[in-house]
Amino acid sequence: MTDNGNAPCRLGVLVSGGGTNLQAIIDRIEAGEIRAEVACVISNKADAYALTRASQHGITVVVHENANFSNRQSYDTATVEILRSHNVDLVILAGFMRILTDVMVNAYPNAIMNIHPALLPAFPGLHAQQQALDYGVRYSGCTVHFVDCGTDTGPIIMQSVVPVEQDDTEETLSARIQKAEHQTFATAIKLFVEGKIRVDGRKVRIAA
Ligand code: GRF
Repeated sequence: MTDNGNAPCRLGVLVSGGGTNLQAIIDRIEAGEIRAEVACVISNKADAYALTRASQHGITVVVHENANFSNRQSYDTATVEILRSHNVDLVILAGFMRILTDVMVNAYPNAIMNIHPALLPAFPGLHAQQQALDYGVRYSGCTVHFVDCGTDTGPIIMQSVVPVEQDDTEETLSARIQKAEHQTFATAIKLFVEGKIRVDGRKVRIAA
């Protein structure tokens, strides 16, 4: 993906929960560090606090629940329509707790980013922090990757390493990893909007 000229990159952020990653992205944009704007925030949960965070910054929010859709493809078809209606260039999964189908992946090839709270390919899926604790690793962290149709399997863009302490619980490790997430996700988005990311098969090349 290359820099699209003068217009700021338009982000569509998909959320399900608290939205601390969304907040970090908004803060970096408002600080002038990332040349982008959040075109819309879409939540599959009506009570997600991320929606409140977005509204506080004057960002358009869309509640898009799955109850009215018979399958994942039809839900994703509707999601793509919402994203296109807001002219979204880059889709950000910031704690969006659904697996995407080929409908979404094909609509935004190498333009959907996810943050995962472990060093992939270790500990994909749910409860990654607890998986890391149960395995007994000394280090975990977070991974920003492009999204394909698998569970946390797409090409890796950036990773940050976080130590695991002996007395960590899922909560304490999650909190330490989240601090790294906020930095790492925003940095990956900045590189994308600056046109510095190129995907070569499974490998992501980052220009200096
Ligand atoms: C993060 O831990 C992220 O790694 C995972 O979901 C969580 C979202 O947190 N995918 P928040 O909603 O950004 O606070």
